[in-house]
Amino acid sequence: KPIYILNGPNLNRLGTREPEIYGSKTLADIEAECRAATKLDIVFKQSNIEGEIVDHIQEAADKASAVLINPAAYTHTSVAIYDALKLLDVPIVEIHLSQPAKRESFRRRSYVAEAATGTISGFGANSYQLGLQAVLNLLKTSA
Ligand code: DQA
Repeated sequence: KPIYILNGPNLNRLGTREPEIYGSKTLADIEAECRAATKLDIVFKQSNIEGEIVDHIQEAADKASAVLINPAAYTHTSVAIYDALKLLDVPIVEIHLSQPAKRESFRRRSYVAEAATGTISGFGANSYQLGLQAVLNLLKTSA
């Protein structure tokens, strides 16, 4: 079963979006790094639309061995994404490029953290690699 890597709003603009916060890699660069890091199948998606991300999570509920998700701004607002994640019974790793705890106070609340197995944040694009390693370890120990 593939690992789903799901990305929320504005992450399609990585590379030029506030590079001092998010770095200069594009989402396509990050996708390529994730694919290079494992032989397992990866399904990689991005959407700016909350309901579409819910659809991606529902698809993962049927098809994925694990989910990595950077819900971007919806981290801090979306009960719908939280509810969708509760449909899953596979590992869920929440990832962020930046460290939300160091930023504006409205970023301190994560609805997603309450549904995730664990969270990795603050390591830039490397957060995806660290999150992927966490998932690979979990899949190995549960296999
Ligand atoms: C983010 C952090 C969120 O607070 C923000 O809304 C994003 C990106 C990150 O990866 O650092 O869009 O999820």
